[in-house]
Amino acid sequence: MNRRLCLITGASAGIGAEFARQYAALGWNLVLTARRDDRLQALAGELRAQHGVDVTVIAEDLADPGAPQRLVAALDAQGLGVDALVNNAGYGLPGTFFSTRWEDQAAFLQVLYTAPIELTHRLLPGMAARRFGRIINVASLAGYAPGSAGHTLYASVKAGLIKFSESVNAECSAIGQSDIHCCALCPGFTWSEFHDVNGTRSETNKMPKWLWMEAAPVVAAGIEAVNRGQPVVVPGAANKVIAALTRILPEPAVRALAGSQSARYRRTD
Ligand SMILES: NC(=O)c1ccc[n+]([C@@H]2O[C@H](COP(=O)([O-])OP(=O)(O)OC[C@H]3O[C@@H](n4cnc5c(N)ncnc54)[C@H](OP(=O)(O)O)[C@@H]3O)[C@@H](O)[C@H]2O)c1
Repeated sequence: MNRRLCLITGASAGIGAEFARQYAALGWNLVLTARRDDRLQALAGELRAQHGVDVTVIAEDLADPGAPQRLVAALDAQGLGVDALVNNAGYGLPGTFFSTRWEDQAAFLQVLYTAPIELTHRLLPGMAARRFGRIINVASLAGYAPGSAGHTLYASVKAGLIKFSESVNAECSAIGQSDIHCCALCPGFTWSEFHDVNGTRSETNKMPKWLWMEAAPVVAAGIEAVNRGQPVVVPGAANKVIAALTRILPEPAVRALAGSQSARYRRTD
Protein backbone atom coordinates (compact mmCIF):
# COMPACT_ATOMS: atom_id res chain seq x y z
CA MET A 1 0.00 0.00 0.00
CA ASN A 2 1.35 3.39 -1.00
CA ARG A 3 0.95 5.37 2.21
CA ARG A 4 1.85 9.00 2.74
CA LEU A 5 4.64 9.86 5.19
CA CYS A 6 4.62 12.42 8.00
CA LEU A 7 7.71 13.67 9.90
CA ILE A 8 6.89 14.95 13.39
CA THR A 9 9.38 16.76 15.62
CA GLY A 10 8.90 16.63 19.39
CA ALA A 11 6.92 13.41 19.04
CA SER A 12 7.97 11.97 22.42
CA ALA A 13 5.30 13.85 24.40
CA GLY A 14 2.24 16.08 24.41
CA ILE A 15 1.00 17.63 21.18
CA GLY A 16 3.66 15.90 19.02
CA ALA A 17 2.73 12.42 20.31
CA GLU A 18 -0.93 13.25 19.59
CA PHE A 19 -0.03 14.28 16.02
CA ALA A 20 1.62 10.85 15.66
CA ARG A 21 -1.52 9.11 16.94
CA GLN A 22 -3.85 11.05 14.63
CA TYR A 23 -1.73 10.71 11.47
CA ALA A 24 -1.28 6.98 12.21
CA ALA A 25 -5.06 6.62 12.61
CA LEU A 26 -5.39 8.25 9.17
CA GLY A 27 -3.15 5.50 7.79
CA TRP A 28 0.01 7.56 7.30
CA ASN A 29 3.51 6.19 7.84
CA LEU A 30 5.55 8.21 10.31
CA VAL A 31 9.01 9.46 11.12
CA LEU A 32 9.23 10.44 14.78
CA THR A 33 11.99 12.56 16.24
CA ALA A 34 12.87 14.07 19.63
CA ARG A 35 15.74 13.48 22.08
CA ARG A 36 14.17 10.67 24.16
CA ASP A 37 14.64 7.58 22.04
CA ASP A 38 12.94 5.26 24.57
CA ARG A 39 9.71 7.28 24.48
CA LEU A 40 9.75 7.38 20.66
CA GLN A 41 10.35 3.62 20.41
CA ALA A 42 7.46 2.90 22.77
CA LEU A 43 5.10 5.14 20.77
CA ALA A 44 6.31 3.64 17.48
CA GLY A 45 5.58 0.12 18.78
CA GLU A 46 2.11 1.15 19.90
CA LEU A 47 1.22 2.76 16.55
CA ARG A 48 2.62 -0.09 14.43
CA ALA A 49 0.52 -2.55 16.43
CA GLN A 50 -2.65 -0.43 16.42
CA HIS A 51 -2.64 0.87 12.85
CA GLY A 52 -0.24 -1.33 10.86
CA VAL A 53 1.75 1.70 9.70
CA ASP A 54 5.54 1.96 9.26
CA VAL A 55 7.16 4.10 11.93
CA THR A 56 10.80 5.21 11.73
CA VAL A 57 12.45 6.64 14.83
CA ILE A 58 15.38 9.04 14.56
CA ALA A 59 16.50 10.52 17.88
CA GLU A 60 17.99 14.00 17.49
CA ASP A 61 18.61 17.08 19.62
CA LEU A 62 17.34 19.98 17.52
CA ALA A 63 19.50 22.38 19.53
CA ASP A 64 22.38 20.96 17.47
CA PRO A 65 22.52 23.12 14.30
CA GLY A 66 23.50 20.02 12.28
CA ALA A 67 20.35 18.10 13.27
CA PRO A 68 17.90 19.19 10.52
CA GLN A 69 20.41 18.37 7.78
CA ARG A 70 21.22 14.98 9.39
CA LEU A 71 17.52 14.15 9.68
CA VAL A 72 16.84 14.89 6.01
CA ALA A 73 19.99 13.02 4.91
CA ALA A 74 18.89 9.95 6.93
CA LEU A 75 15.48 10.01 5.23
CA ASP A 76 17.01 10.49 1.77
CA ALA A 77 19.34 7.54 2.41
CA GLN A 78 16.28 5.35 3.12
CA GLY A 79 14.44 6.70 0.07
CA LEU A 80 11.72 8.23 2.28
CA GLY A 81 9.95 11.27 0.81
CA VAL A 82 8.17 13.42 3.38
CA ASP A 83 4.59 14.40 2.48
CA ALA A 84 3.78 16.18 5.73
CA LEU A 85 6.07 17.98 8.16
CA VAL A 86 4.91 18.87 11.66
CA ASN A 87 7.33 21.31 13.29
CA ASN A 88 6.21 20.86 16.86
CA ALA A 89 9.27 20.46 19.16
CA GLY A 90 9.45 23.23 21.70
CA TYR A 91 9.67 24.42 25.26
CA GLY A 92 9.58 27.61 27.30
CA LEU A 93 12.70 29.31 28.61
CA PRO A 94 11.73 30.94 31.93
CA GLY A 95 13.31 34.11 33.28
CA THR A 96 14.13 37.51 31.84
CA PHE A 97 16.51 38.31 29.02
CA PHE A 98 18.87 39.75 31.69
CA SER A 99 18.88 36.62 33.79
CA THR A 100 19.42 34.02 31.07
CA ARG A 101 22.65 32.89 29.41
CA TRP A 102 23.13 33.64 25.71
CA GLU A 103 23.87 29.94 25.09
CA ASP A 104 20.37 29.08 26.34
CA GLN A 105 18.73 31.78 24.20
CA ALA A 106 20.70 30.61 21.14
CA ALA A 107 19.63 26.99 21.70
CA PHE A 108 16.02 28.16 22.11
CA LEU A 109 16.15 30.00 18.76
CA GLN A 110 17.70 26.95 17.13
CA VAL A 111 15.04 24.50 18.36
CA LEU A 112 11.95 26.69 18.03
CA TYR A 113 12.76 28.86 15.03
CA THR A 114 15.77 27.88 12.90
CA ALA A 115 15.14 24.12 12.89
CA PRO A 116 11.49 24.39 11.73
CA ILE A 117 12.44 26.86 9.03
CA GLU A 118 15.42 24.79 7.86
CA LEU A 119 13.38 21.56 7.79
CA THR A 120 10.72 23.35 5.74
CA HIS A 121 13.36 24.66 3.34
CA ARG A 122 14.99 21.25 2.93
CA LEU A 123 11.72 19.31 2.49
CA LEU A 124 9.75 21.69 0.23
CA PRO A 125 11.59 20.75 -2.98
CA GLY A 126 10.57 17.09 -2.60
CA MET A 127 6.98 18.14 -1.90
CA ALA A 128 7.04 20.37 -4.98
CA ALA A 129 8.37 17.51 -7.13
CA ARG A 130 5.52 15.26 -5.91
CA ARG A 131 3.05 18.19 -6.10
CA PHE A 132 1.74 17.47 -2.60
CA GLY A 133 2.74 18.74 0.83
CA ARG A 134 1.44 19.65 4.26
CA ILE A 135 3.47 21.73 6.72
CA ILE A 136 2.16 22.48 10.19
CA ASN A 137 4.18 24.85 12.35
CA VAL A 138 3.07 24.63 15.96
CA ALA A 139 3.10 28.28 17.02
CA SER A 140 1.02 29.66 19.91
CA LEU A 141 -1.65 32.09 20.94
CA ALA A 142 1.33 33.90 22.51
CA GLY A 143 2.30 34.85 18.95
CA TYR A 144 -0.86 36.97 18.78
CA ALA A 145 -0.50 38.80 22.09
CA PRO A 146 1.93 41.67 22.77
CA GLY A 147 5.27 40.67 24.30
CA SER A 148 5.30 40.70 28.09
CA ALA A 149 7.80 40.16 30.90
CA GLY A 150 9.45 36.74 31.19
CA HIS A 151 10.13 33.90 28.71
CA THR A 152 11.34 36.74 26.46
CA LEU A 153 11.76 35.19 23.02
CA TYR A 154 8.78 32.83 23.19
CA ALA A 155 6.23 35.33 21.84
CA SER A 156 8.69 36.63 19.19
CA VAL A 157 9.48 33.17 17.91
CA LYS A 158 5.84 32.12 17.76
CA ALA A 159 4.83 35.39 16.03
CA GLY A 160 7.65 34.75 13.56
CA LEU A 161 6.39 31.22 12.87
CA ILE A 162 2.91 32.61 12.14
CA LYS A 163 4.29 35.10 9.58
CA PHE A 164 6.60 32.47 8.11
CA SER A 165 3.71 30.02 7.65
CA GLU A 166 1.55 32.69 6.00
CA SER A 167 4.34 33.55 3.56
CA VAL A 168 5.17 29.95 2.63
CA ASN A 169 1.48 29.17 2.17
CA ALA A 170 1.04 32.21 -0.10
CA GLU A 171 4.21 31.40 -2.06
CA CYS A 172 3.03 27.84 -2.76
CA SER A 173 -0.18 29.22 -4.31
CA ALA A 174 1.77 31.91 -6.16
CA ILE A 175 3.99 29.34 -7.88
CA GLY A 176 1.05 27.08 -8.77
CA GLN A 177 1.64 24.45 -6.08
CA SER A 178 -2.05 24.30 -5.23
CA ASP A 179 -1.77 21.11 -3.12
CA ILE A 180 1.07 22.26 -0.86
CA HIS A 181 -0.21 24.06 2.23
CA CYS A 182 1.54 25.53 5.24
CA CYS A 183 -0.35 26.37 8.42
CA ALA A 184 0.55 27.87 11.80
CA LEU A 185 -1.34 26.11 14.58
CA CYS A 186 -1.77 28.50 17.54
CA PRO A 187 -2.84 26.65 20.69
CA GLY A 188 -3.57 28.29 24.01
CA PHE A 189 -3.12 26.37 27.27
CA THR A 190 -2.93 22.68 26.32
CA TRP A 191 -2.49 19.69 28.63
CA SER A 192 0.99 18.26 27.97
CA GLU A 193 4.38 18.19 29.72
CA PHE A 194 5.17 21.75 28.58
CA HIS A 195 4.47 23.50 31.90
CA ASP A 196 6.20 20.76 33.91
CA VAL A 197 9.33 21.12 31.77
CA ASN A 198 9.45 24.93 32.13
CA GLY A 199 8.67 24.84 35.85
CA THR A 200 5.40 26.78 35.80
CA ARG A 201 2.96 23.94 36.58
CA SER A 202 1.87 25.27 39.98
CA GLU A 203 1.19 28.74 38.51
CA THR A 204 -0.53 27.55 35.33
CA ASN A 205 -2.71 25.12 37.31
CA LYS A 206 -4.32 28.20 38.86
CA MET A 207 -5.48 29.44 35.45
CA PRO A 208 -9.22 28.83 34.84
CA LYS A 209 -10.01 25.35 33.53
CA TRP A 210 -12.08 26.74 30.63
CA LEU A 211 -8.85 28.11 29.15
CA TRP A 212 -7.38 24.60 28.78
CA MET A 213 -7.68 22.13 25.91
CA GLU A 214 -6.72 18.51 25.50
CA ALA A 215 -4.09 17.87 22.81
CA ALA A 216 -6.52 15.84 20.65
CA PRO A 217 -8.83 18.68 19.49
CA VAL A 218 -5.83 21.00 19.09
CA VAL A 219 -4.16 18.53 16.73
CA ALA A 220 -7.40 17.75 14.85
CA ALA A 221 -7.87 21.50 14.22
CA GLY A 222 -4.32 21.72 12.80
CA ILE A 223 -4.74 18.77 10.44
CA GLU A 224 -8.12 20.00 9.24
CA ALA A 225 -6.88 23.57 8.69
CA VAL A 226 -3.78 22.60 6.73
CA ASN A 227 -5.85 20.31 4.51
CA ARG A 228 -8.15 23.25 3.77
CA GLY A 229 -5.17 25.48 2.87
CA GLN A 230 -5.75 27.79 5.85
CA PRO A 231 -2.51 29.65 6.77
CA VAL A 232 -3.28 30.09 10.49
CA VAL A 233 -5.61 28.29 12.89
CA VAL A 234 -6.48 29.03 16.50
CA PRO A 235 -8.07 25.93 18.06
CA GLY A 236 -10.98 26.18 20.50
CA ALA A 237 -13.71 28.76 21.11
CA ALA A 238 -12.04 30.48 24.10
CA ASN A 239 -8.73 30.83 22.25
CA LYS A 240 -10.52 32.20 19.17
CA VAL A 241 -12.16 34.89 21.33
CA ILE A 242 -8.80 35.81 22.89
CA ALA A 243 -7.15 36.00 19.45
CA ALA A 244 -9.98 38.21 18.15
CA LEU A 245 -9.73 40.52 21.18
CA THR A 246 -6.02 41.10 20.51
CA ARG A 247 -7.07 42.45 17.09
CA ILE A 248 -10.09 44.56 18.02
CA LEU A 249 -9.33 46.05 21.46
CA PRO A 250 -7.22 49.25 21.60
CA GLU A 251 -3.52 48.39 21.76
CA PRO A 252 -2.86 49.81 25.28
CA ALA A 253 -5.75 47.71 26.63
CA VAL A 254 -4.40 44.54 25.00
CA ARG A 255 -0.91 45.28 26.30
CA ALA A 256 -2.20 45.82 29.86
CA LEU A 257 -4.34 42.67 29.73
CA ALA A 258 -1.57 40.51 28.28
CA GLY A 259 0.89 41.87 30.87
CA SER A 260 -1.37 41.26 33.87
CA GLN A 261 -2.47 37.78 32.73
CA SER A 262 0.97 36.51 31.77
CA ALA A 263 2.38 37.80 35.09
CA ARG A 264 0.25 35.06 36.68
CA TYR A 265 2.29 32.27 35.09
CA ARG A 266 5.42 33.64 33.36
CA ARG A 267 8.57 33.44 35.48
CA THR A 268 10.73 36.57 35.73
CA ASP A 269 13.27 35.17 38.26
N1 LIG B 1 1.18 23.05 25.99
C1 LIG B 1 0.82 24.29 25.73
O1 LIG B 1 0.08 24.93 26.54
C2 LIG B 1 1.25 24.95 24.46
C3 LIG B 1 0.58 26.12 24.06
C4 LIG B 1 0.96 26.74 22.87
C5 LIG B 1 1.96 26.20 22.09
N2 LIG B 1 2.60 25.07 22.49
C6 LIG B 1 3.66 24.54 21.63
O2 LIG B 1 3.39 23.19 21.35
C7 LIG B 1 4.60 22.53 21.01
C8 LIG B 1 4.64 21.17 21.72
O3 LIG B 1 4.67 21.39 23.11
P1 LIG B 1 3.91 20.45 24.14
O4 LIG B 1 2.90 21.29 24.82
O5 LIG B 1 3.49 19.19 23.51
O6 LIG B 1 5.11 20.20 25.20
P2 LIG B 1 5.80 18.84 25.72
O7 LIG B 1 4.75 17.88 26.15
O8 LIG B 1 6.80 19.28 26.72
O9 LIG B 1 6.51 18.27 24.42
C9 LIG B 1 7.60 18.95 23.85
C10 LIG B 1 8.29 18.08 22.81
O10 LIG B 1 9.39 18.83 22.25
C11 LIG B 1 10.54 18.00 22.28
N3 LIG B 1 11.77 18.78 22.39
C12 LIG B 1 12.06 19.72 23.33
N4 LIG B 1 13.33 20.15 23.17
C13 LIG B 1 13.85 19.45 22.12
C14 LIG B 1 15.12 19.43 21.49
N5 LIG B 1 16.15 20.18 21.94
N6 LIG B 1 15.31 18.61 20.43
C15 LIG B 1 14.29 17.83 19.99
N7 LIG B 1 13.07 17.79 20.55
C16 LIG B 1 12.86 18.60 21.62
C17 LIG B 1 10.33 17.09 23.49
O11 LIG B 1 11.04 15.88 23.32
P3 LIG B 1 12.38 15.45 24.10
O12 LIG B 1 12.37 16.07 25.46
O13 LIG B 1 12.30 13.95 24.11
O14 LIG B 1 13.49 15.95 23.23
C18 LIG B 1 8.84 16.82 23.40
O15 LIG B 1 8.61 15.74 22.52
C19 LIG B 1 5.73 23.49 21.38
O16 LIG B 1 6.24 24.09 20.22
C20 LIG B 1 5.03 24.53 22.27
O17 LIG B 1 5.67 25.78 22.19
C21 LIG B 1 2.26 24.43 23.66
